[in-house]
Amino acid sequence: MKSNELREKYLAFFETKGCTRRPSDVLVPRWDPSVLFTPAGMNQFKDHFLGRCKLEFTRATTCQKCLRTGDIDNVGRTAYHHTFFEMLGNFSFGDYFKRDAIHWAWEFLTDKKWLALDPNRISATVYLDDDEAAGIWLNEIKLPPERLQRLGEDENFWPANAPSQGPDGVCGPCSEIYYQTEFGSVEIWNLVFTQFNRVGDPPHNLRPLPSRNIDTGMGLERTAAVLQGVDTNFHIDILRPLVEASGEVCHVRYEPESETGRRLRRIADHVRACTFAIHENVIPGPNKEKYVIKRLLRRAVLDGHQMGMREPFLHKLVARWPN
Ligand code: GLY
Repeated sequence: MKSNELREKYLAFFETKGCTRRPSDVLVPRWDPSVLFTPAGMNQFKDHFLGRCKLEFTRATTCQKCLRTGDIDNVGRTAYHHTFFEMLGNFSFGDYFKRDAIHWAWEFLTDKKWLALDPNRISATVYLDDDEAAGIWLNEIKLPPERLQRLGEDENFWPANAPSQGPDGVCGPCSEIYYQTEFGSVEIWNLVFTQFNRVGDPPHNLRPLPSRNIDTGMGLERTAAVLQGVDTNFHIDILRPLVEASGEVCHVRYEPESETGRRLRRIADHVRACTFAIHENVIPGPNKEKYVIKRLLRRAVLDGHQMGMREPFLHKLVARWPN
């Protein structure tokens, strides 16, 4: 299944569940001082979760362009890390909760009409004390107990470690869904049960929100890699051509296992991030998001330089992202 088909299927599936399809928010949310770049689909709905704005809909679905720098050192080296990526999401603002979120995730992944993935290769995790989510997986979905794990706040809270370390704001326990491929186990979907507002330090810092909400994030590139049977996100239909084009403009052949291969993947990732940021008028500079983009550009230019490039080349890749 092509990435474009996956994106469309996801949004169409959640429309059948009553979700309103909303466009991606911007990549640089200047209205939100707590982040430099949009890190997840839920970002545009923070006020909805806090009950601070009038709701025109209580269910939504989006494909959000995101940029995260937390895993920057892994980009190009690991199969599944990016700076820029697309996150497929479905959201409930005081409407459906754990049962529907889990059942619909299962239906979308396994039903023949949708992704038709092998149910025997799916496993899940839940937060330590989340008996409700565990019960739904075990008793309703009939996931075998050996494929359900209970993990701590590092893995199964969103944001990670929010109860003990923050940040303040909306948060909740989550349930992650993994798919076993021939290359290993891939985390493809995070279902967050957003039911708390964190205010200050433990022990009494998790205040129930006015309503119980759902925020989910499925990695488009990771799920496309699973569906396309490739060993890394960088080999899916919308990324491999850009990696190979990076080789073309740098006059080297793309050999996935080599140091050059890692450099070309990093260039492809960083050029996507920079293109989308510059599109929103983030020009490389000394502070904040401008500095992040400057660093990404520098790293990509350095990779080119180390492969012998002495002329500008990144701009040639901007037009090479396949539709
Ligand atoms: N907001 C859910 C996630 O980023 O995984």
